[in-house]
Amino acid sequence: MKVLVTGGTGYIGSHTCVELLQNGDEVIIADNLYNSKPEVVERIASISGKAPVFYEADVTDKAAIRKIFAEHQIDAVIHFAAYKAVGESCKIPLRYYRNNLDSALTLLECMQEAGCKNIVFSSSATVYGPNNPVPYVEEMPTYVATNPYGWTKVMIEQILRDISTADPEFSAVLLRYFNPIGAHESGLLGDDPSGIPNNLMPYVVRVASGQLEKLTMYGDDYDTPDGSCVRDYLHVVDLAKGHLKALDYAVNHKGAEAVNLGTGNGLSVFELVDAFEASTGVKVNRVVGPRRDGDLPQIWAGTEKAEKLLGWHAEKTVEEMCRDSWNFVVKSRE
Ligand code: NAD
Ligand code: WQD
Repeated sequence: MKVLVTGGTGYIGSHTCVELLQNGDEVIIADNLYNSKPEVVERIASISGKAPVFYEADVTDKAAIRKIFAEHQIDAVIHFAAYKAVGESCKIPLRYYRNNLDSALTLLECMQEAGCKNIVFSSSATVYGPNNPVPYVEEMPTYVATNPYGWTKVMIEQILRDISTADPEFSAVLLRYFNPIGAHESGLLGDDPSGIPNNLMPYVVRVASGQLEKLTMYGDDYDTPDGSCVRDYLHVVDLAKGHLKALDYAVNHKGAEAVNLGTGNGLSVFELVDAFEASTGVKVNRVVGPRRDGDLPQIWAGTEKAEKLLGWHAEKTVEEMCRDSWNFVVKSRE
């Protein structure tokens, strides 16, 4: 299959490109390198033994995306390209709406012009909002996001459902990721945010490596078993593999389906940091601080639909997630 991967040099996109190439698919990447580096393209090629075609292109640029569809007979698209920082989206909402919505609309118009009917979309567990009980299952209502980033995911999911209602040939899988961590076992690909990280694991590894002084664990007074927040962490390589299953589903079915990609297991902040220390042997200097605004006490996935519809479940352990996250940092410093 020939697959256009927008945001393909980013964290999840790069791991997915490796899996696609190793599966024998042809990969065309469109990324404007807003949050990724050009060397990722060579790294994808060196791991998979096959090179993706790379376009440095902004997905909101219709002429650039049209050109890609004109130059390649694309069978399906995986749409990762987006801004993704929840806190930042509250400060600069307009830029989030412009980038995330415009890129989705531009891409969908170009797909329509080219007659490409299959898309896998990077949605997020954030679409479940603050009012649903755990575990989150796909049938739950998703119309109360808590931040502009989350709203862009809710809105794009709706746009994809509307297109599939209007066009019976259209097929969309809306993948709702939980908390991806980990890195490729080669140590060549991983999560490498610029500036001070917002997410837990990138922060943990920077404290472990001495780049940051200490980790503040946000809150120990939640109504959870140890008082810290519970999340569903999954290995990015498992997540990448889920995209291949979703692609396969998309090209063989019609309509729009939302599917959770998570492990189904909740792990607390304290447990994750303990697991990191135990599996790497590296200490993480840490303190407990106040709660972070907007955090929900516990989030984890219902996983039945992913298993039934896609035949996918997460396989990697928390130890592997921690070990690979750390290995990426160690290799990056060599
Ligand atoms: P990332 O920032 O590492 O990758 C996104 C890539 O898209 C980057 O390489 C960036 O340069 C590119 N990009 C952004 N806007 C673009 C544009 N207009 N045109 C071209 N390229 C553009 O993020 P990620 O963690 O790999 O996330 C991928 C997708 O998954 C995003 O849609 C994100 O919202 C979603 N998601 C991520 C998480 C997570 O925790 N990482 C969780 C749920 C959902
Ligand atoms: C995890 C836990 C923090 C940093 C976010 C988005 C979500 C999705 C995934 C895109 C929380 C705690 C964190 C720190 C800490 N992204 N923490 N100290 O908030 O569950 O999810 O990323 O779609 O939409 O909201 O992930 O990694 O930021 O936090 O104690 O320095 O770690 O309070 O309990 P989150 P996270």
